[in-house]
Formats: sequence, C-alpha cells, structure tokens
Amino acid sequence: LPVLFASSELGPWMKTGGLGDVTAALPRALALLGMEVRVLVPGYPELLDAFPRRRTVAVIAPFAGLPGASLSTARLAPRLSVLILECPTCFDRPGGPYVDARGEDWADNALRFGLLSRTAAVLASVESPLAWRPRVLHCNDWQTALAPAYLRYVLQPTAASVVTIHNLAFQGLFAAESLQPLGLPAHAFTFDGVEFYGQLSFLKAGLQCCDRITTVSPTYAEEIRGPELGCGLDGLLRFRARQLEGILNGIDTRTWNPARDLLLPARYSLRRLAGKQECRKALEHACGFDPDPASPILGMVSRLTRQKGVDLTLATVDALIARGVRIAVLGSGEQALEQAWRAAADLHPDRVSVRIGFDEGLAHLIEAGADVFLMPSRFEPCGLNQMYSLAYGTLPVVRSTGGLADTVVDCTPQTLADGTANGFCFVEPTPQDLYETVLRAVECWRDRATWCQIQRNGMAQDFSWSRAAGRYKALYQELVAT
Ligand code: ADP
Ligand code: GLC
Repeated sequence: LPVLFASSELGPWMKTGGLGDVTAALPRALALLGMEVRVLVPGYPELLDAFPRRRTVAVIAPFAGLPGASLSTARLAPRLSVLILECPTCFDRPGGPYVDARGEDWADNALRFGLLSRTAAVLASVESPLAWRPRVLHCNDWQTALAPAYLRYVLQPTAASVVTIHNLAFQGLFAAESLQPLGLPAHAFTFDGVEFYGQLSFLKAGLQCCDRITTVSPTYAEEIRGPELGCGLDGLLRFRARQLEGILNGIDTRTWNPARDLLLPARYSLRRLAGKQECRKALEHACGFDPDPASPILGMVSRLTRQKGVDLTLATVDALIARGVRIAVLGSGEQALEQAWRAAADLHPDRVSVRIGFDEGLAHLIEAGADVFLMPSRFEPCGLNQMYSLAYGTLPVVRSTGGLADTVVDCTPQTLADGTANGFCFVEPTPQDLYETVLRAVECWRDRATWCQIQRNGMAQDFSWSRAAGRYKALYQELVAT
C-alpha cells in the first residue's frame, strides 16, 4: 500500500516539537508493516545538509509566482524514502520553520505551506510528475492541510486523504486575499469549504475536504468535539465525528530507551536501575546543584507556552522549594515565560536550574536523571514527554487531559494494588492542585519500595510505534477499500 506522508517537520533535523518526532517514527513503523511510504518535507537547509546525496526526481510547475521548485529523494530505510521539496525562495533561510529570528511568523507562510500542500496534492493526483502513485495521502497539521482542498477544488485525486490533528490550536489562518494567489477558486471560500470567520483556514480546509480525520489520542478526539478545546472547529468535528478517530502516538524506542541511550552517562533498565543514579548525579552536576540524594529533582522539558501550563509550575516554585525539592527546566518559547523562569533560577541558583534553548542531550539527561517529570498542560493532544518519562522510570505529574489522561494512571490505593499506577494526576489547572499533587509524589518518592513498584509499572509498558502503525494501516485499508 503506497502512502505519501506530508509534514512540515522531520526529526532530528528539523523539529520544533512532537510533530518532528512523529514524522521521524510513524512512517518508519508503517514501512516495517510492509507499506511503501514516502515522506514529503520542505527543503530546509538542515535537511539539504542531511541528505547531500539526494537525487532530483521531478520539477514542480511554477506556482503562485514563485520560481520553480523541484523534488529530490533519498532513502531512509527499506520501503521508506524522503521527498524533499526544494524551493530556496521558500525554505532556504535561517531561523525556524515557521518564525524568524525575532519570533515573528514568516510573512509568506501562506505561500510556503501552500506550496507544500499543493505539491502533496499534485503527487496524489493524475497530474503527478512521478510514476509512483500513493493510494493514501496522509497530511499533518495546518501546514499540509490545504492539500485535500486542492484535491477537492482543482485537481483530480488518485488517492484518499487523511488529516491528522497534532494541535488544533494552530490553524494556519490567513487573509481572504491569499485564496487567489494560492490558486483556489472563489467558490471554495464558503462555510463548508476553506472559510473560517472571514479568513482562509488551512486546517479547516483540510478537515472539511479530507476523507478521514485522526488526532493523536482518544481523549483529545473527544475533547475537540466540545467548545472548550474545539478552537471554533468543534461544530465541524461533531458533524464529522464518524470520520474522526483518536490514535495514540508511540515513542521512538531507537532514541528513547534508557537501556540503549548513548546520550546518557550510564544506561539502565527495569532490572538494573543503578545507572539511573549515575544519570541523576550527572544532572545535578549539569544544573550546578550540590549532590543531594535526599532532595527530589523535578524535571521539565517543554515549549514554554500557556498550553504546557509552565506558568502554573512557575507559580508554585517558591512553595515547592520550601518543601525541599529542586527543579531542572529546559525549554524555549514565549519571552515573558522565558524571562520569568530565568528570574526564578537567578533567585534560587542552588534549587532551580533553567536552560533556555533546544538541547537534545540535556532533554535526555533530564528525562533520565530527574525523579519526577512535570507536565501540567492545559491541553495536550498527545504529549510525548510523559511517555519518555514512563520509559525512563521518572514518574510523571500531569494534568488529566488529552493524551496525558490516556497514558498516566494516578497512583491510588486501588491502582497500586492492581499494578496500573504509573504517575500522579490532577484535574483543575490551578497552582494549588499542581502543588498538592507534586507533594503527593514527593511523599511517595520517600517510600522507596512503593516508588520502585510504580517505576516498574511504567517501565514495563509498551509505548512502541508498532501498535499505532497497525491502527493507521487498518484505517488506510478501509479507505482504499471504499
Ligand atoms: P509538543 O509537540 O506540543 O511540543 P510533545 O510532548 O509532543 O509536545 O513533544 C515535544 C518534543 O520536543 C519532545 O521530543 C521533547 O523532548 C522535545 N522538546 C521540547 N522542548 C525541547 C527543548 N527545549 N530541547 C530539546 N527537546 C525539546
Ligand atoms: C503536538 C501536540 C503534542 C503531540 C504532538 C505530536 O505538538 O502539542 O501533544 O504529542 O503534536 O503528535
């Protein structure tokens, strides 16, 4: 079954969050199940450097006044290759994939991701310049979600389409005037087309025009059908509820496995936990903390945004360190939050360590070396870090929402007894509830035997991608059969 997987990120070369991880792992897992998968991604400088021996396979007709683009390809694994959309005007520039060095959206994002979406659609249509024809086009988030609209309004599709929502809060909204340069007809600009409150919405277009919608956890699939987390699209999602499915992400056990993790100073496993202590010492050192086996370390690796509830954690810092804990934070994001976290570290250098930036090695060290991992998200479509934490024996404290609710089982007398407890959960997004839940975790941490049991419950779980890949395969098969 040939599948075209279109995405704006591909880890480890270009990633701002979980989408890059998913694009690195899911297509690979699909290929292992026998599907023939090509991953379409923009030709960012990082990707061009990563694949110096790529081969040009097609020229893309000029679009929206942009100079010509081309497609090149390189092999990633058996039955898996990458298709790189090379358009230097759009993608060969320093900075992030979506924002410039000052954190502002690139002014031409509509055209950049319009080109990406349009190319994905062309490859899934009779106009494709490639001999290879996908039967399924799988789009991810707003950046590729305009593709099904091209298939509905301008091209003749040869593939069914799926749109996966990784985060409904980012919709790709642009002025109505973008419609024409993007080559979409005026009659597409309607309530049941690509229009959203007077603007063009890439994500809505995809959700409206695709054959199937998925999102990255069952609970989030329910939540987005309600007004609170529906971001204005809950009506549409209720209407399409029968074509909407939540499939929980996996984690890439090639990179996130404490028994094989070469980014750590020591490796460990369920049976041999000793290496975790080494990692803990290395983390204390990296944070500039004194060695202290009696003071628990809370870890956090996160985009610093309201979504992630990092402001809730900030509000509890003083109270928590008064109770003897230490906090190690790695993240980047909103300037005000970055500054506030820096200030907390300046105030308590021996208790709070904050690294602003993106650092893969430190992310692994925090996952391995911390005792508790904090994820008090206001909403969380899936979340990968809590699953990394479970695999690394670092018990997560999470707010019960989306994928966090689907993966973390609160420690209670009952869940302890039945062997399902693997972390600590709270419901209300308030500093008070977070604080009380962390204290509950810390108290439990002091009871070594119970703690070890909960650690083992999490470490024994299987979060590998093969389960999710099986679900996507079944979905694709249903689609091509109809
Ligand atoms: P989201 O995609 O919403 O940011 P996820 O939990 O799905 O959240 O995925 C986040 C991914 O990005 C994880 O792999 C996490 O380790 C990584 N990550 C986030 N911030 C950083 C950072 N500052 N440095 C290194 N890795 C980071
Ligand atoms: C988004 C979500 C996150 C999810 C990731 C991968 O970035 O915020 O919860 O894990 O996509 O699907």
